[in-house]
Amino acid sequence: MQIIQQSQEVLQAKQRLGIVGNAPALTAAIVRAIQVAPIDMSVLVIGESGAGKEFFPKIIHAFSPRKHNKYIAVNCGAIPEGTIDSELFGHEKGAFTSAISARKGYFEEANGGTIFLDEVAELPLTTQARLLRVLESGEYIKVGSSEVQKTNIRIVAATNVDMAKAVREGKFREDLYYRLSGVQIPVPPLRERGNDVVLLARKFAADCADKYNLPAINFTESAKNALMSYRWPGNVRQLKNVIEQVAIFEAGTEVTEESIRQYMPVVSESFAPTVIGGEEAHSYAKEREALFKMIFRLQHEIDELKQMIGATHPSFGIKAIAEHSESTDTGISSLVRLRHKDDDFTPAEQVEMPIDEPVENPTTLEDNERELIKRALERNDGRRGAAAKELKISERTLYRKIKEYGLE
Ligand SMILES: Nc1ncnc2c1ncn2[C@@H]1O[C@H](COP(=O)(O)OP(=O)(O)OP(=O)(O)O)[C@@H](O)[C@H]1O
Ligand SMILES: [Mg+2]
Repeated sequence: MQIIQQSQEVLQAKQRLGIVGNAPALTAAIVRAIQVAPIDMSVLVIGESGAGKEFFPKIIHAFSPRKHNKYIAVNCGAIPEGTIDSELFGHEKGAFTSAISARKGYFEEANGGTIFLDEVAELPLTTQARLLRVLESGEYIKVGSSEVQKTNIRIVAATNVDMAKAVREGKFREDLYYRLSGVQIPVPPLRERGNDVVLLARKFAADCADKYNLPAINFTESAKNALMSYRWPGNVRQLKNVIEQVAIFEAGTEVTEESIRQYMPVVSESFAPTVIGGEEAHSYAKEREALFKMIFRLQHEIDELKQMIGATHPSFGIKAIAEHSESTDTGISSLVRLRHKDDDFTPAEQVEMPIDEPVENPTTLEDNERELIKRALERNDGRRGAAAKELKISERTLYRKIKEYGLE
């Protein structure tokens, strides 16, 4: 194997994109991206959620001859199934009821440049067929047209699901999988990056202190060891969330192992991330299951909270507390925030989730799910992206459920 060295180009890529870390596996991934950049092959970036996959298509574009042309990133999981073909390939006027004028697709827009297909495993099978054609011949047909168009596009895709399993289950075309992954770039999980965890923690702590004008924090040796030996199921994204909380709530202190542990959730099975090669492939069934587990957990926590409050203020009902918390964001929400240090949610989820009142007289899991989705949408002013993120499901799944439950 080639010796991994921090060439000028690697340093340049890290600096330009703000990539922190010197772990050999991370550097190897960056070297691979730089090496493959000038060669017009498709690349598949693989790695767990939150590992930093989104840097790699940018490196590839920036180090390729296409760098002065367009770079378009598309989140395949966030575009509703009914419109994805038109988004990617464009449509002709009158192609469908709402197509009042012709529209360029991303493949036309980015002609000469690079397209990043994030969450590529979420593409519907019909779109996969169209994509395969583009990869094989550079040809595509706009929705509602019969004319073949040509495009000259470099495709970089990313996924955190086990693609081989998706192929086995018939969710992803095998020929497309091989076409897409001419070159694979594996992004290592954070737990395998040794001291990088500390470098990243320092960076996130310093950024946060700067941003909110807070006194800086330091980590004791044992706190650093705790950070390095933790599993980080949510990888760098999770580390960032944890450190931001620490930087705010422990501002100006020397952070000990004991205090940092309060912010590191005990990793539970139900919220383990999707693992490449593991059993947890991304699928609607899994998402549904995760949603159910979340509902159960939520209800369980509300019960616990009720008991806690009941013990100190027997006259308080949970409803009154919940209303209070909404108006002041103190009281119960800070209590809840503390409790949720044990949970594997992002801070936004940690704060917002438990403020929900319990579903009154829930009858079925569907009722609960519907209610949870409704509330997430309300809380996010109807923004589906934000609601899906909060619910830990893809936007496509949310879109489907909104339809299913008539929540439009
Ligand atoms: N080495 C790193 N240095 C600095 N920041 C990083 C690094 N790796 C990841 N991050 C940050 O962590 C967050 C998550 O990274 P990113 O969005 O690329 O994850 P991902 O692999 O695409 O995850 P998902 O599969 O969930 O989409 C981002 O805010 C990113 O900037
Ligand atoms: Mg991503």
